Amino acid sequence: MNLTLHVWRQKSPADPGRMVKYEVRGVSEHASFLEMLDVLNEQLVEKGEEPIAFEHDCREGICGSCGFMINGEAHGPQPATTVCQLHMRHFKDGAVLHLEPWRSKAFPVVKDLVVNRSSFDRIVAAGGFISVATGSAPEANLIPVPKPISDRAFDAAQCIGCGACVAQCPNGAAQLFTSAKVSHLSLLPQGQPERFDRALSMVEAMEREGFGSCTNYAECEAVCPKEISIDFIARMNRDYLSAKGKGVMKPPLSTAG
Ligand code: SF4
Ligand code: FES
Repeated sequence: MNLTLHVWRQKSPADPGRMVKYEVRGVSEHASFLEMLDVLNEQLVEKGEEPIAFEHDCREGICGSCGFMINGEAHGPQPATTVCQLHMRHFKDGAVLHLEPWRSKAFPVVKDLVVNRSSFDRIVAAGGFISVATGSAPEANLIPVPKPISDRAFDAAQCIGCGACVAQCPNGAAQLFTSAKVSHLSLLPQGQPERFDRALSMVEAMEREGFGSCTNYAECEAVCPKEISIDFIARMNRDYLSAKGKGVMKPPLSTAG
């Protein structure tokens, strides 16, 4: 298949950047999107041109490092799929595709399609951990956790920190990411002692990073490759308001759902 790509090229954070057109010929429909870019990059290198910078590590949908906009959709048109797991068979021969980096004040562009997502790391560093003594792994396995609660915690724990939720949100909000990181710990017994302080610290860290505010567009949920539910945002907001003493009664710790 043949494609026309319009790719955002930006040499450095200070460079204003621009879209550059490329014609890519003979792409296999079995290639992943990143493999298609690999082929294009080899051709650019052979011509003595600078290859397109994009980020990746695992290429199997688990590390969260890949991701860019394809025709205005974070990770492209396939639901629940990271761009590294997206295959060319989902596009038509002759398709015209516009590739852009995540657009968010809190994710400054490093180069081409690569952005700096360390703002996410700082949110996690503010409270995305358990510091109370939880014992060793065998002891953890002896603590009974109701199946619906462990399933819910696992749903939240699937967040790979890719940043698609922020990129797709018209407000550039990071509530889906932050609520997933808050919830996967605070749903479990080991996460209960720091539950409300964690919500407070992580929400405040999120606000310091310059993300926008959530107004329930739910675009984040629609593009999330791990299908994280916006219900976690409501849960985080309840815990945050409880921590601030805003008249929301703290739920009993044992029924954390
Ligand atoms: S919530 Fe979804 S879209 Fe957002 S960072 Fe986590 S996995 Fe990516
Ligand atoms: S490269 Fe790891 S999720 Fe895409």
